[in-house]
Amino acid sequence: MPCAIAQDVKSGTKATPVPIARFPEESLLLGSARAYTRNGLEYYQRCERTAGIVKTRFLWKQGYVITEPSAIADVLLHHPDSFMKPYVLQRLRVLFGEGLLTADGEKWKEHRRLIQPAFSTERIAHFLEVVRGNAEAMVSSWRNGEVRDIYADVVELCLKNVAQTMFGAYDEELGGIGRALAATCHQLVQAVFDVIRPRPLRFPFRLQRQVQRELGALNSYLQRLIERREGQPARRDFLGLLLAAAGPDGPLDRQAILDESVTMLLAGHETTTSAVIWALYLLARHPQQADKLARDLQAELHGEAPSYRELNRLDSLRATLDETLRLYPATHRIARTVIKPVKVGGHVLPVGSDVVMPQWAVHRSSRWFRDPEAFVPSRWSPSFRRSLPRFAYFPFSGGARTCVGAQLAWCESAAIVALLTQRFRLTLADNDPLVPAEGLTLLPSPARLRVRLERRSRTSSNVAFAGWTQPAQTEMW
Ligand code: HEM
Repeated sequence: MPCAIAQDVKSGTKATPVPIARFPEESLLLGSARAYTRNGLEYYQRCERTAGIVKTRFLWKQGYVITEPSAIADVLLHHPDSFMKPYVLQRLRVLFGEGLLTADGEKWKEHRRLIQPAFSTERIAHFLEVVRGNAEAMVSSWRNGEVRDIYADVVELCLKNVAQTMFGAYDEELGGIGRALAATCHQLVQAVFDVIRPRPLRFPFRLQRQVQRELGALNSYLQRLIERREGQPARRDFLGLLLAAAGPDGPLDRQAILDESVTMLLAGHETTTSAVIWALYLLARHPQQADKLARDLQAELHGEAPSYRELNRLDSLRATLDETLRLYPATHRIARTVIKPVKVGGHVLPVGSDVVMPQWAVHRSSRWFRDPEAFVPSRWSPSFRRSLPRFAYFPFSGGARTCVGAQLAWCESAAIVALLTQRFRLTLADNDPLVPAEGLTLLPSPARLRVRLERRSRTSSNVAFAGWTQPAQTEMW
């Protein structure tokens, strides 16, 4: 539906309009849906090379793929109220209910305000202590010389970190439920995004039933946990904040608490798993970079995981993670649906159309990054950072709906990568490169990372570290 009141429409972009073009290979029937379904990541890169805004159709639905940073700023920063979360994400409400990730409008604002304090600096510093303890426990089971699939270890670690910090609980039952749900969720998201399948097939009955079963198990686990917690003194973790806002006069009912809990558990562990797995993969593919990082870190941290205060001065670690999230952004595209007439990059977008902003393609653009497909952490100098336009690099999004867990995720991935890189040199055990698959997050398909582990010494010769002991289990607050 074209916009009837274009003259009233504001745009944050005052300069020349951003170039706009149609997708070069549209079919009459499917629009660009076939090209997208063939390989979504390549499709986004093709759009980026075509124009800053690519106008297209996914079957009958009008869509825009936006890769020009100033136009992305129009959507996320200047006119967020003209957009809502996309239709596809609404379908995922079966997973997340109406949690922070899928909610819109007043409900989202209220919940975000309630939940934000769970991510304060003080809480993140506590969180990091939990991460350090769990990462130490994990690495203590790794043996020098073994070939190991470390994917499962990292999933378990990230799930444990988020569950212990947010809910003050983790056990085998929750671990099992979380792992099963994450795998099903991945398949479900892939099916939902398979846009050329007829709608009923896009949401297969078998998967729906499986999701319902696993969500049922998680809900009953959380119900029991909530009941236990209701009888205990109040705590200031995530669940504590939700419980404090519950009750007859409070803004949250039991369903809302469950929805937010499921959202946090899933959004909070798959994303960091993705960041850590890709960082370790890239370091394993670039042993010289890994050795240099290990030396830098050992000089500062002497083989230990960093504390919150130490993280700030680890420039080469920060550069490694920025470069990882540039090449493999855990959330590789952000989507919205237009709900009010709006100008983006100088063009009026009609109400009802979909907008996709793929970090995957923007982060790999030769306009902003020299040798964009290469892993070059050293590119992240202070002057390079200053020179990048806003939204040429946006792994955590931006504006009001920026990732609520961004700082926590950054600290967690940094601590894990720092510890593992100092303790072990990883060599890829398989020759084939890992292939990223579009799901809820960008994870390798098949889901594994097999590496040979070689214990490092402080001087990077092959002598084991002396004097490391398993730290006492961190107390939960
Ligand atoms: C490397 C790790 C992570 C990345 C790259 C990432 C990325 C993002 C992005 C791009 C968004 C915006 C999505 C959109 O607007 O459509 C988002 C939202 C969100 N993230 Fe993260 N995230 C990460 C880790 C986490 C963690 C650890 C948590 C929780 C513990 C978390 C919880 C959330 C939630 C609840 C939202 C919805 C926020 C809102 O709309 O108010 N994320 N994340």
